[in-house]
Amino acid sequence: MSGVASIDRPLRLAELPRGGPLAPPVVEPLLVRAPSVSHRQVAPGYWLLTLDAPEIARRALPGQFAMLTAARTAESAPVLPRPMALYDWDERTGTVQILYGVMGDGTRRMATWHPPEPMTVVGPLGRGFRLHPATSAVVLVGRGIGTCSLTALARQACAEGIDVRAIVSARNDQALVGADLYRQVGVRDVVEVTDADGTSPVGSVARRLQRMLDERPAQQVFTCGSQRLLRLCATLARACDATVQVSLEAHMACGLGYCHGCSTGLPGVAREAPLVCQEGPVFVCA
Ligand SMILES: Cc1cc2nc3c(=O)[nH]c(=O)nc-3n(C[C@H](O)[C@H](O)[C@H](O)COP(=O)(O)OP(=O)(O)OC[C@H]3O[C@@H](n4cnc5c(N)ncnc54)[C@H](O)[C@@H]3O)c2cc1C
Ligand code: FES
Repeated sequence: MSGVASIDRPLRLAELPRGGPLAPPVVEPLLVRAPSVSHRQVAPGYWLLTLDAPEIARRALPGQFAMLTAARTAESAPVLPRPMALYDWDERTGTVQILYGVMGDGTRRMATWHPPEPMTVVGPLGRGFRLHPATSAVVLVGRGIGTCSLTALARQACAEGIDVRAIVSARNDQALVGADLYRQVGVRDVVEVTDADGTSPVGSVARRLQRMLDERPAQQVFTCGSQRLLRLCATLARACDATVQVSLEAHMACGLGYCHGCSTGLPGVAREAPLVCQEGPVFVCA
C-alpha cells in the first residue's frame, strides 16, 4: 500500500478531554489485599491471574490499570509494584483478571503466586478509553501483551451493540493473547497476524486494516503500545475521518503521579510532559 511510507512521520498525542458529558466519573483508587482466586498459565510465559477485588471490579473502566506488588509480606523485594492492565472483570462475582507475560524479576515472582494467596493491589488507575455516543463501529489494533489493555473495551463496546473488529499481532501463535476473549465477548472479525508466519509486517497489517475500513467504516480506532501500529492507525483512520485513541506503556514506579518516572517526554508549550499514569495511559492521537 502506497500510504504506508507516511506512517514514519512524528505524531502528536493529546490528553483525553477532562470535562464534558463524555468524561467518566473520577474515582479514587483503592489499596486492597486481594485474595487470588485462580492463577494458571495460558501459554508458555503467559499467566492469567484472577483476584477477588469487588471494589475494584465495581469501579473499573476499560483501559485502566492497577499496580500489583510482587513481594510477599515480610519480603523487601521487588520494591516497586508493577503496572498491569485490567484485562477483564466481573462485577457480579467481584473478580478482576490480569493477564501478564513473564519479563523480569517482578513478573517471575508473580508467576509463583498460589491461590488463595493475597496480592496487594492499587487501582483502578489512570484514564481509560472513551467510546463516543455516536460510535457504531470500532476497530481495535493491538500487539503482544499490549492487547490486554483493549479487551475490556471490546466487552463494553459489544455489550453496547457496537460493531467491533480487531487485529491481534504477536511474535507467534502462542503469544496471541486476547484473541480468545475478543471472540468470547462477541467481536465479529478477529484477524490474527504473527511474525512467525510472516503476516505481521506493518505493510501487511496496513492492507488488512485498510480493507476493514473500506468494507465498513469505523468512527473510532483504538490501539496500544507499538509506535509503528500507532502511526499506521493514525494515517489510515485520518483518511476515513475516524479518531484514534492509544494506550501507552511507560516505566512506572508509583502509578500515582509522585515519581514522574512515567513522563511521556513530550512536553507541552506551557507545562511539563504529561505523566502516563495520570493523564493516560490512554491519549488521543491529534
Ligand atoms: C499501563 C500499563 C499496563 C500494562 N499492562 C500489562 C499487562 O496487562 N500485562 C503485562 O504482562 N504487562 C503489562 N504492562 C507491562 C508490565 O508492567 C511490565 O512488563 C512489568 O512491569 C515488567 O516487570 P518485571 O519485574 O517482570 O520486569 P523488570 O524488567 O524486572 O522490571 C521492570 C519494572 O521496573 C520498573 N522500572 C524500570 N525502570 C524504571 C525507572 N527508570 N523508573 C521507574 N521504574 C522503572 C518498571 O516500571 C517495572 O515495574 C503494562 C505496563 C503499563 C505501563
Ligand atoms: S508512575 Fe510515578 S508518576 Fe507516573
